[in-house]
Amino acid sequence: MILNAVEKALMNNPVRAAVQRTYEARLLERLGGRVEGGRALEIGCGRGVGTEIVLTHFGARHVDAFDLDPDMVARAHRRLARFGDRVRLWCGDATEIPAEDSSYDAVFDFGIIHHVPAWREAVREVARVLRPGGRFFFEEVTRHALDRWAYRRFLDHPSEDRFSGAEFVDELERAGFAVPRWTERLFGDFVFGAALRARAAASPHA
Ligand SMILES: C[S@@+](CC[C@H](N)C(=O)[O-])C[C@H]1O[C@@H](n2cnc3c(N)ncnc32)[C@H](O)[C@@H]1O
Repeated sequence: MILNAVEKALMNNPVRAAVQRTYEARLLERLGGRVEGGRALEIGCGRGVGTEIVLTHFGARHVDAFDLDPDMVARAHRRLARFGDRVRLWCGDATEIPAEDSSYDAVFDFGIIHHVPAWREAVREVARVLRPGGRFFFEEVTRHALDRWAYRRFLDHPSEDRFSGAEFVDELERAGFAVPRWTERLFGDFVFGAALRARAAASPHA
């Protein structure tokens, strides 16, 4: 789902960028390490701050990134132009990633999968495009947060099949990941972790 105007304002501002850089990136690095010289994918890249972090903080050589919202992709293009051919951007859907199996060393999810109605398909797509041993870095918003009054009143999210942190991790394991390190934050509102693609990914239609 594309963000409503309130959430877009919450995402496209310097405070969100600072939280992503100074808190989320450091926590994800502690959980999963860096991806020095690697080829990475960011799903739901928004205006491109996450992609910048994957290049400059995590050390990826190249990042592919996409978002469902053409306006976000246009913003990301402007932000990331200085990286030249180290970045490739497009408008797309996390449930149908246009990449070969085992294409990436790492995939990053900065809070997008809770916006996808068919989120289990997105998880399977992430598993499919990661190489065996590749890492999936995730920061997700749980049902615990989405059930809060402020989220329901001001933001738009899929109303069905929301997940807790443990349910998200269970789904990753069903899709072929090992999830040795994950943690919840803010009374269970957020789940962070680094999952390892341990075996052949399950078919998205299984
Ligand atoms: C909460 S925002 C997070 C944006 C950015 N990752 C950040 O951390 O600032 C969620 C983003 O996911 C995008 N999105 C929602 N559904 C999507 C889908 N099915 N495929 C790809 N992107 C999606 C939205 O357009 C939005 O930019």
